[in-house]
Amino acid sequence: MAWKIAIDGPAGAGKSTVAKIIANQLNGEYLDTGAMYRAIALKSIRVGVDFSDLSAITDDDFEFVNSTDVVFSGGDIYLDGECVSDLIRTPDMSSKASFVSKFGVVRTRLVYLQQLMAKSINVVMDGRDIGTVVLPDADLKIFLIASPVVRAERRQKQLIEKSGSAPDLDTIIQEINARDLQDSTRAISPLKKADDAVEIDSSYLSIDEVVQKILCLFKERGLIMEDVKTLNEETKDAEVKEEAVEQEEKVESVEESSQETEAKSEEKAEAKSEEKAEAKADAKEMQTVEGVVVEVQQSEPEKTNKNGEVVKKAREARVLVKLDNDREGFLYMKEIADCESEEDLFFNYVPGDRVKLVVKKVYEDGGKLLLSQILLAKKESLKDFQKVIDDHGTFTAKVVKLIKVGLILEYNGYSCLLPTSQVNAKEEELEGLVGTEMEVAPIRVDLNRIRLIVSQNVANAIKAREEKSVYIASLKVGDVVKGTVKKLEEYGAFVELEHGVEGLLHVSEIEHNRVVKIEKVLNVGDAVECKIIKLDEKHIGLSRKALLPNYWKDFIDSAKVGDEVEGEIAEINKFGVVINLATEIQGFLPKSEFAYERDVQVEDFYKVGDSIKTMIIQLDSSKKRVILSKKQLPDNPWNTVQLNTGDVVKCVTLKQLPTGVKFTTLGITGFLNAVNYGDKTEFAPGDEFEAKVRLYDPKQYRLTVTVKEPRPREERIRRSNDVSEMSKYLRNQEKMNATFADFLEKDEK
Ligand code: DC
Repeated sequence: MAWKIAIDGPAGAGKSTVAKIIANQLNGEYLDTGAMYRAIALKSIRVGVDFSDLSAITDDDFEFVNSTDVVFSGGDIYLDGECVSDLIRTPDMSSKASFVSKFGVVRTRLVYLQQLMAKSINVVMDGRDIGTVVLPDADLKIFLIASPVVRAERRQKQLIEKSGSAPDLDTIIQEINARDLQDSTRAISPLKKADDAVEIDSSYLSIDEVVQKILCLFKERGLIMEDVKTLNEETKDAEVKEEAVEQEEKVESVEESSQETEAKSEEKAEAKSEEKAEAKADAKEMQTVEGVVVEVQQSEPEKTNKNGEVVKKAREARVLVKLDNDREGFLYMKEIADCESEEDLFFNYVPGDRVKLVVKKVYEDGGKLLLSQILLAKKESLKDFQKVIDDHGTFTAKVVKLIKVGLILEYNGYSCLLPTSQVNAKEEELEGLVGTEMEVAPIRVDLNRIRLIVSQNVANAIKAREEKSVYIASLKVGDVVKGTVKKLEEYGAFVELEHGVEGLLHVSEIEHNRVVKIEKVLNVGDAVECKIIKLDEKHIGLSRKALLPNYWKDFIDSAKVGDEVEGEIAEINKFGVVINLATEIQGFLPKSEFAYERDVQVEDFYKVGDSIKTMIIQLDSSKKRVILSKKQLPDNPWNTVQLNTGDVVKCVTLKQLPTGVKFTTLGITGFLNAVNYGDKTEFAPGDEFEAKVRLYDPKQYRLTVTVKEPRPREERIRRSNDVSEMSKYLRNQEKMNATFADFLEKDEK
């Protein structure tokens, strides 16, 4: 069995730093489970989980995790094939990861993936529930703690190193306390020390001191550090026996040749029972061994009896090697690179030479081992793939067979295992892939089994990332690009361009008009065309309005204050009239600017849809506002109409009120008091009637008429030609009701 170390503890206690060092020193793998919860938090945002109302979020919102793939490769974490190592390291993602980690469906899936990843490998895993849930049988469990202040100071330092600034200490302490509370009080697998965990308080210890403490504990548990390497090989060899994959690979990589079979049978007879036991104990396939050349044996031709029957098969030339552990094995010519003839063999291998080889085959019955120099070279060169992994390289390999746990591929003579979880195909489609070629990325070098572990998903992600970089490099400011709205924020919309590249369409760049609510203009999924207005290493700034006609600019370029404009009425409300002046340009005519006359109602003259002539009295570019006036138009009829008392005018009824009739004549409006009605007492809008001017006062915008003959007093004032006296008289009259006015008239007489 492989060894496992579980390190749990609150955020900022130093778990990941320490876990990485220990994994490195002990030649094991490091698995950061917190990163997996962060990746799920990121995906939750992407699939649209609504974090604005946390109380409404349920397990159902996380159903997507069951089809989500999270993989570690070359020190990076891949979410469904996309490298998200940087995206998940933000304060927002920390708190969202803590939040999503309380949902059962999320935990079940991640614990399953973590246990799968940890299976059969030496691993240091850090998190919150590793000792309690993920690896309850871990060989060593550490619960690493530190005081909130120390943790906050560490976090602040980290942030400053990373981005040059950080929130104040109190704010960080508050965040840490909130996260601790959330992580340790959730119902499922809360952060808690396993009963058999060793607690280490790192508040006043250096990283090295914590590492040393853990390594000592590791030793104390019987896992001797000096032997770790051997131990790895032993444990992995043990797994070889357990795993079906290894069984099948053995068949694939070690095909017995006729000579080998013969060697086996030759040695079989000699093998004693103790030797058999020894063989099992000290020889492991794929193990690197050293020894001394004992003899170089020539090839032997086939032997037949006189009946022509083969009694001894032909045998290739070979080298007999005595290993340092006293076991013996054969190194056949075909297991030596560039050995084309027996001369080569005799030239290169001389009895007494020391040789380093790999055990290719162990016969359980104690037969001589099969050794290989080619496999040794392969094992050595396999290490070069670590650089390919670190550089995120890929290669094309041929699928040679399907095994229980995935596909076996061949690349340049190297055997590669592609686990099912790393293939971009359904399980039932795997068989059909045999014989095809596919692009894969190495994700781990397995020296013990001389093979590579590869991933098609990671290769796809690397390719996608490369395509993304090439695409970004091809962009320049001014380019017009098409994309799809992916996410809406208050400050703008994220638009996905080609190859998953995202740009920000700031709210101020959506339309020429001010956009208050983005949702009113754009929705997730909308296709948009934008112009690139900003481009740097991190951001792509987009503008949609740059491609839209700028109606305001067109309007403002040709309009100025004082211009007469004609437009269609779009709306009449209690504040005034909205008028369409040009495409997407509306002007506003305030009620007070409609007419000089008092008590004039717009609705009495116009309705929505009517055309109306006005004058621009204000243009405000910053607010894109046009204010209009009708009364200030130069053709103000009050300036041109000339009337004298007694003149007869043709009036058109606007409205009848209890006190009289509002009418219009010659473009101005006037009033016929009810006391001055003639025979006609009912007036419908549009009714025409003739009346005599009683008062025309253009300075006060007043016109009063009568159908009745004027009263004697009024006649007297009229004759005196005193407009202001007449005005006073009429105003009083208007104030009084007809009966009372008549009474006064009579009284006067
Ligand atoms: O270790 P970290 O800060 O990257 O973890 C992020 C969150 O994920 C943490 O607040 C709690 C959660 N988490 C968890 O619940 N179980 C784990 N094993 C690891 C992390």
